Amino acid sequence: MITSYNKPVHRIAIVGPGVIGASWAAEYLARGFDVVATDPAPNAEANLRKYIDNAWKDLTTAGLSKGASRDRLTCTTDLKAALPKADFVQENGPERPDFKIKLFADMSDATPVDSLIASSSSGITPSVLQSKCKHPERILIGHTSNPPHIIPLVEVVGGTKTSPDAIQQALAFYAAIGKKPVYLKKELPGHVGNRLQAALYREVMYLIQQDVLSVEDADVAVSYGPGLRWGVMGPSLQWHLAGGAGGIKHFMDHLMDPLAGVIKSLGTPDITPELKQTIVEGVLRQAATRLVIELAGEENELLIGLLRLRGQTENRASRGEPKRAAA
Ligand SMILES: NC(=O)c1ccc[n+]([C@@H]2O[C@H](COP(=O)([O-])OP(=O)(O)OC[C@H]3O[C@@H](n4cnc5c(N)ncnc54)[C@H](O)[C@@H]3O)[C@@H](O)[C@H]2O)c1
Repeated sequence: MITSYNKPVHRIAIVGPGVIGASWAAEYLARGFDVVATDPAPNAEANLRKYIDNAWKDLTTAGLSKGASRDRLTCTTDLKAALPKADFVQENGPERPDFKIKLFADMSDATPVDSLIASSSSGITPSVLQSKCKHPERILIGHTSNPPHIIPLVEVVGGTKTSPDAIQQALAFYAAIGKKPVYLKKELPGHVGNRLQAALYREVMYLIQQDVLSVEDADVAVSYGPGLRWGVMGPSLQWHLAGGAGGIKHFMDHLMDPLAGVIKSLGTPDITPELKQTIVEGVLRQAATRLVIELAGEENELLIGLLRLRGQTENRASRGEPKRAAA
């Protein structure tokens, strides 16, 4: 039985089923929960059902949990009707601090005090979100990248008023549904995933602006080079491989100083309208006739394949067998 905040989770409320919320709704239905979605927009329910129908094929390929069904979705435009029976809330409303502060105060009033409320907010810190709530101790960030029904990472971070128990329960809940939660010990704008993307993209834009690389070649340099490996192993563990037989110790003794020199030479682009236009033109050349939905489908198919392969490898390791399949 999957629990959160020490009680079984049967019903999950999705507040704001837009780009991220719709994908979370699909994920929670695929994990066998009842899902109630709430959004005041008149076309929200139709858009959500269409999104879930499209995502269901990928979710089926990746593996549905017992009881998974699209029929377990209900929708309402009334926030106060959606929350009283929710065992867990995933919030995905518009990213505006004033709006979210008010929304969280309303959600806190309408949600049982023993239910966690997790926000998908990409940049607003949890201390800000919970600042006007009557029961702030169960409010935290549960942030992933787009689309949540494919990406395993969930960043969990609490605010100054979040209880340690709520953090532990959120980590356990996301792990129980097959996610890879990480705990951020401190609040930071953009949490961690977006900061890592920003750090890399700062240099990508710098290299484009300095006319070192075209937009297309910069993408190749990431996704067919280090990015391909980052999808398998994290950057610190990879340095262990870079050190050869001497591993990470050899890397630190002999290769870190040259890397530190490169770090000092990294640039900061001047984000001008011209640079933005150069990137837009380069991306549209790459996309050619493929629509965004087609590109997302291509990406999802490859990611599911990679995650399945990683799952097989990890299962072999957990059975004590060699991680690599026999030739
Ligand atoms: N888009 C991304 O790639 C991405 C990735 C990670 C996290 N996020 C975060 O997810 C959140 C939502 O972003 P998005 O891109 O999905 O936005 P979006 O505009 O697609 O969706 C927001 C939804 O909230 C609804 N909404 C507005 N007022 C509401 C209310 N009072 N109650 C309930 N619903 C309401 C809107 O109608 C809309 O459907 C933001 O906090 C954002 O930072 C977005």
